[in-house]
Amino acid sequence: MAKIRLGFLASGRGSNLQAVIDQIQQGLLDAEITCVISDVENAGALVRARDENIPAFTISGGAAKTKTEPDIERRIVECLEEHQVELVCLAGYMRIVKEALLKAFPLRIINIHPALLPSFPGLNVQKKAMNYGVKFSGCTVHFVDEGTDTGPIIIQAAVPVKDDDTEETLSIRILNEEHRIYSEAIRLIANKKIHIQGRRVLTS
Ligand code: GRF
Repeated sequence: MAKIRLGFLASGRGSNLQAVIDQIQQGLLDAEITCVISDVENAGALVRARDENIPAFTISGGAAKTKTEPDIERRIVECLEEHQVELVCLAGYMRIVKEALLKAFPLRIINIHPALLPSFPGLNVQKKAMNYGVKFSGCTVHFVDEGTDTGPIIIQAAVPVKDDDTEETLSIRILNEEHRIYSEAIRLIANKKIHIQGRRVLTS
């Protein structure tokens, strides 16, 4: 079976990208990352990609902080298509994906979120979960749709919240699980083990 071709969109440090790179290099994930795109110049994710000789691009998202202007999103689509990306992986990409990307990659965009959706969508969710007083938080890999963190859930991992946790300690334990389940989700998709029934993502 041919390796699945991945394109990453990331705005920050890129530790999830790195975890996927590591899994590929260890022969645990049959995939190739064909490009990494960031809206932030010199983002950690771009540096990591360049260190691995993965084509890395900055495509600034435009003036609005959380949205991408439609013509810019079309440039992102062009870049992903030029690199023959089959699955788009958002990893700390701080902009909401809009129509151009969703249409070009239907059910082929996934995201990693540091909470157990549908609880705590949006930003700063480790802190929100802790302040709310939940006893378990965790992380979720889901398909991306037009909502914010609302697409069908592929895989989740629960992380207990300890009495002496701080936002930082909880975030670290959640991040460890993110690094594990993101590759797992990609592996399921690459191996065509996923069936979508409405909102339910079933694995076989
Ligand atoms: C992760 O916590 C991810 O769940 C969230 O943004 C963070 C990105 O971290 N969407 P990194 O850039 O992959 O290290």
